[in-house]
Amino acid sequence: MNETIVIPTLDVEAIKQDFPILQRKVHGRALHYLDNAATSQKPRAVLETLDTYYREYNANVHRGVHTLSEEATARYEGARAKIARFVNARSPKEIIYTRNATEAINLVAYAWGLANLRPGVRVVSTEMEHHSNIVPWQLVTQQAGAGLSYVPFDEDGRLQLDALDRALEDGRTKLVAFTAASNVLGTINPVKEIVARIHAAGALCLVDAAQAVPHLPVDVQDWDCDFCVFSGHKMMGPTGIGVLYGRRALLEEMPPFMGGGDMIREVRLTGSKWNELPWKFEAGTPAIAEAIGLGAAVDYLTALGMERLRAHEVELVTQAWERLGEIPNLKRLGPPPPERSGLVAFAVDSIHPHDLAAILDQEGIAIRAGHHCAAPIHEKLGIAASARASFYIYNTPEEIDLLVAGIYRAKDIFAI
Ligand SMILES: Cc1ncc(COP(=O)(O)O)c(C=O)c1O
Repeated sequence: MNETIVIPTLDVEAIKQDFPILQRKVHGRALHYLDNAATSQKPRAVLETLDTYYREYNANVHRGVHTLSEEATARYEGARAKIARFVNARSPKEIIYTRNATEAINLVAYAWGLANLRPGVRVVSTEMEHHSNIVPWQLVTQQAGAGLSYVPFDEDGRLQLDALDRALEDGRTKLVAFTAASNVLGTINPVKEIVARIHAAGALCLVDAAQAVPHLPVDVQDWDCDFCVFSGHKMMGPTGIGVLYGRRALLEEMPPFMGGGDMIREVRLTGSKWNELPWKFEAGTPAIAEAIGLGAAVDYLTALGMERLRAHEVELVTQAWERLGEIPNLKRLGPPPPERSGLVAFAVDSIHPHDLAAILDQEGIAIRAGHHCAAPIHEKLGIAASARASFYIYNTPEEIDLLVAGIYRAKDIFAI
């Protein structure tokens, strides 16, 4: 007998009470925050964790033998263990703190890339990447004299996997860097299948999970990926803290990215020896409060349940997709739900996205407008920019009604 699994729905009204910022007004209107793909709001649990750190045990980590330093170190390393469990890493040693997803990609591009890339080999990225998964590879492949090519996406916004296979055929591709979920198209890529193809060709992969870890259950062992990156601020954590997950054997082999305090075991004027993982990659005083704050965000997400969170976003994005589809002269970007993440980017004929965002802002509705740091996607689609509404746990179906009404009002203003 087939059992239907019922995922309990979220109590959104109760959740909203956890986010003090949602009580504020914008232009005299209640705030409707639909820009979560850019950054998320922070629950009280995260704000209080930051406050408590500075009020009660602010100290540097790994250094002092005094109580405050021991407390700070225990919580800083405790947060790492929580993050490791959250994405199912084998060990906290595989979790490197960085400033954000961008820095995590740069870490791999420079530390792994400069040691492994040379003329005659290539890196493969895709046409649906955020600039942060394109530019570091351009910089490093240029420096190493290696090639760089891109897997295209089709008119539905799906990666053309046959093109990936072709790029893997000649054995020259050393690493494929691709996104788990596009921040413009909303496409959720079949990560496990893509990783299997990459590994079958003897290459490594880096998964940009900046739009996946905050919104979907992610299991790096199930994906079998080599590197995976994400940002704390998009998953209710503070800014200034991000994560690189790396397979331990690869991280052990890689040289450090930056040098300085904490990442060394021994320093002589004639040379130095590196600290063990994960500290080998964490030079200087780290973002201590932010890391501990990210640990609190992980606790919050874990208590909500990622399956429930995803179910809520599927409901919202399905509704948004349908309602936006009814608006004349509005083009939605990417594939239809449920195969998409909780965001919809769109373009309205004859209204610049910045004008639309400014009109919506007057009504307290925050959306993003521009190229969303993914100019090549827009270039391929033949549009300069788009508007984007992106959802999270505190958003409601009523906010989609307000968004749609706001777009109609903008059309009235522009008389189209
Ligand atoms: C898919 C994707 N990758 C990477 C990033 C970069 O994140 P950050 O700016 O936090 O480094 C973003 C941010 O929008 C993103 O959406």
